[in-house]
Amino acid sequence: MENKDKHIFLKERLKQNNIKLTSTRSAILEVFASSTESLGAEDIYILARRKDPSISLATVYRNLKLLAGLGLVQKISQDSGSVYSLAGRLDGRRTAARQVSRPSKKPESKDVYRIENKLNEALRDLNKIKLEKEMALEDVIKDFGRLDKILQSYEFEQNNLIQILLDIQEEYRWLPKHALLYVSSRLDIPLTRVYGIASFYKFLNLEPRGKHSILVCTGTACHVRGSINLLQNIVDILGVKPGDTTQDLRFTLDTVNCLGCCALGPVVMIDDEYHSNPTGKQLKKILKNCD
Ligand code: FES
Repeated sequence: MENKDKHIFLKERLKQNNIKLTSTRSAILEVFASSTESLGAEDIYILARRKDPSISLATVYRNLKLLAGLGLVQKISQDSGSVYSLAGRLDGRRTAARQVSRPSKKPESKDVYRIENKLNEALRDLNKIKLEKEMALEDVIKDFGRLDKILQSYEFEQNNLIQILLDIQEEYRWLPKHALLYVSSRLDIPLTRVYGIASFYKFLNLEPRGKHSILVCTGTACHVRGSINLLQNIVDILGVKPGDTTQDLRFTLDTVNCLGCCALGPVVMIDDEYHSNPTGKQLKKILKNCD
């Protein structure tokens, strides 16, 4: 079966089983359809991220379990960890693990197994590092074009540094290190000055931010009306503390001293919308509906 046909077939099977084809699932299926080898979950994660950057390792594991349950993917457990490949009937190629094959005869010494396992692990680590480096380099090269567009719109003027940083932040939701380096070199401004400005202003972020911003007001008016409970509900749902971003980069949770609508308190602002005293159930629904 051709790679494209495999991908279509896999998607059809999900549909037949009433399973939604999310962008994450599609990315994972594409990795399987185009892979010539069995892959570890982390390898799948790295490859799938190229197609869907919002994917997390936990999501990959969840989907692998689902695909194995449907019989579309097979899991092969090995001493050096599990690897996955398309189920035999879908894959005309070999489905055995890609690691150094284990001898069929019993080894003469346990040391042979130990060394073999160590080699397999080292091989997997090297492969992972190589993939990560390739991916990071590709991303950085693509970014230079995006950054140049922003710099060009300000005619590479040093005086527009803050506005340039704001535009970069709007593009990425934060200020990545390579972007600051690039700005410093293109505008001919010392990196220490670029960093100095980026770290001085609170509205500029040097850490990744989530796609959606959640601001819980803990000012006096909201506090007396129970903003602590509201904040705790959100912490419980997302599993992050105020000031942190969820692992999948969907949400960043922060607190503020007033949102300017004290009569609605306790109040939370999600992106541009205010929500007055939502229950835990309502919060879950609101957060789930954030795409
Ligand atoms: S104190 Fe919460 S909105 Fe003003």
